[in-house]
Amino acid sequence: LKLAVLISGGGSNLKALIEATAHPGFPAKIVCVGADTDAAGLAYATDAGIQSFVVRPADHPNRAAWGTALAAAIREHDVDLVVSAGLMRILPAGFVSEFSPGLINTHPALLPLFPGAHAVRDALAAGATETGVTVHIIDEGVDTGPVLRQATVAVRAGETEAELHERIKQQERPLLVDTVRAIADGSLDLAAAASTAASDAT
Ligand code: GRF
Repeated sequence: LKLAVLISGGGSNLKALIEATAHPGFPAKIVCVGADTDAAGLAYATDAGIQSFVVRPADHPNRAAWGTALAAAIREHDVDLVVSAGLMRILPAGFVSEFSPGLINTHPALLPLFPGAHAVRDALAAGATETGVTVHIIDEGVDTGPVLRQATVAVRAGETEAELHERIKQQERPLLVDTVRAIADGSLDLAAAASTAASDAT
């Protein structure tokens, strides 16, 4: 299975995917890494000899045009699955319709709880005693697509957002790797997951 991974920041989830896919037995390989900015995580791709590209929203008149350019960059690599791993952008409908359900995201909360860009901060602010991480198919909404995998993380009294987020990431990295492995080896059928959710929604 050929993967594109999209990032915006440090890329520790990307790093985990690079390490996992480096094993010859892993049923997927990363063929490109995309970012919306000069993300620090791009260095992991460079070090691993993986092609990468930056498609900046500021270089495009609107979100739809940005999505079109990002899709074009990915399409050149003939990928089977796009993994948003810390991409801090909402993908436009045209992009989603082109790649979904072969388009997944990881989110640092137990969706549908705490969607959006500040999930860890919101969980702490809400006084949650438990939160976690969700890997889901990206649909037209924001953090609303069919859930594929979740893991829970207990919140420790008095811990900071950064401390909690790092503990969430300790669960997130193996969860994301295992989800990609299941998709690649066929034990997780994205089309079935997407259609089940659609029929449940009716
Ligand atoms: C991850 O926790 C992801 O769920 C969230 O942003 C974080 C990115 O972390 N959207 P990293 O860049 O993979 O270290």
